[in-house]
Amino acid sequence: MVDRTARGDGPMTGAVVLGVGGSLPGRVVTNDDLATRLDTSDEWIRSRTGIGARRWVEPGTATSDLAVDAGARALRSAGVSTVDAVIVATTTPDRLCPAVAPEVAARLGLVGTPAHDVAAVCTGFLYGLANGVGLIASGAARTVLLIAAETFSTILDPQDRGTAVIFGDGAGAVVLGAAGPGAPGAVGPCVLGSDGIGADLIQIPAGGSRQRSSGLAAAPGEHYFKMRGKEVFRQAVERMAEVSLDALARAGLTVGDIDHLAPHQANMRICAAVAHRLGVPEDRVLANLDEVGNTAAASIPVLLAQAAADGRVKAGDQVLAVAFGGGLTWGAVTLAWPDAVASFGTFVPAGS
Ligand code: UT7
Repeated sequence: MVDRTARGDGPMTGAVVLGVGGSLPGRVVTNDDLATRLDTSDEWIRSRTGIGARRWVEPGTATSDLAVDAGARALRSAGVSTVDAVIVATTTPDRLCPAVAPEVAARLGLVGTPAHDVAAVCTGFLYGLANGVGLIASGAARTVLLIAAETFSTILDPQDRGTAVIFGDGAGAVVLGAAGPGAPGAVGPCVLGSDGIGADLIQIPAGGSRQRSSGLAAAPGEHYFKMRGKEVFRQAVERMAEVSLDALARAGLTVGDIDHLAPHQANMRICAAVAHRLGVPEDRVLANLDEVGNTAAASIPVLLAQAAADGRVKAGDQVLAVAFGGGLTWGAVTLAWPDAVASFGTFVPAGS
């Protein structure tokens, strides 16, 4: 099996989190709502996944809309109005081309600021974080706005009970700034990995060059998101436990130093299995899966923004964030939580 794990020697200039924002669509879709049109039940979804409800955007709302809301909240939380770079991590950009980040930057009043997308599915936030930390370490930027935003409801097959019940929409964001190592809000070494041999376990088959170059129209349903859940489950537990230990070791920390495990909200059973393997007690595992489902790239920053806003995570707390997703990709990082007031709330569509 291919196993290439990026292991930088840590930032030359440290990065710190200066501000945090999160935004969820107002429309709540319950398990019972889905059971009216799918062969499923609240009992099955809760017991197999831990999900009770998810938020889906109203028709007409795109990923950029949620991203702008979360981004504006993070900028407010950080008390800044400009940054040196904007990164958007997403699996569901408004269009296949161009990247969504320049439009998001423009709508935040940041025309002229370098802006790019990162595509790492559920690990998108952590890949984006590594990008942002790298821009700061290299001196290319002193401040970075990193947004992870998804409208997964737009790519779900409404007839596929294996995915339609799992994913939700949302956006989370952080502002990163340059600072010395050990500063409040310090981002530890980002440890990332990938295994493209598993590329077809999580995919949207149509719409890319492979299908388009054939000159053939996509087969029905091929524009929808597909996941081989059982195989993904197994690998997710292995990789998330392994990369967590790696990130702790590289940060010079042990499991006992961790106040909160912030696992990608894929499935409550995955989160519990990872915590068990690491020896993290249940009361140190952050969760919002019950209310928001799996929001892919947005999952970790939405979780952290919410937990910080409601007081679960406090300044100085040590957080271990870990994710696994399509690609396949995985990653983990430690964060010393900053003394910043998180802004978390409901997205209100323009004109409503
Ligand atoms: O975020 C990126 C990473 N993603 C993940 O980590 C997701 C990982 N995978 C999972 O969370 C789980 O595999 C799922 C929640 C997707 C599925 O749970 P599972 O326990 O692995 O179920 P399964 O796929 O093995 O299916 C068991 C049974 C099947 O029926 P049969 O063949 O035993 O008759 C499925 O057809 O459950 C059935 N099933 C459902 N039944 C009711 C699958 N989905 C549903 C459903 N409602 N929504």
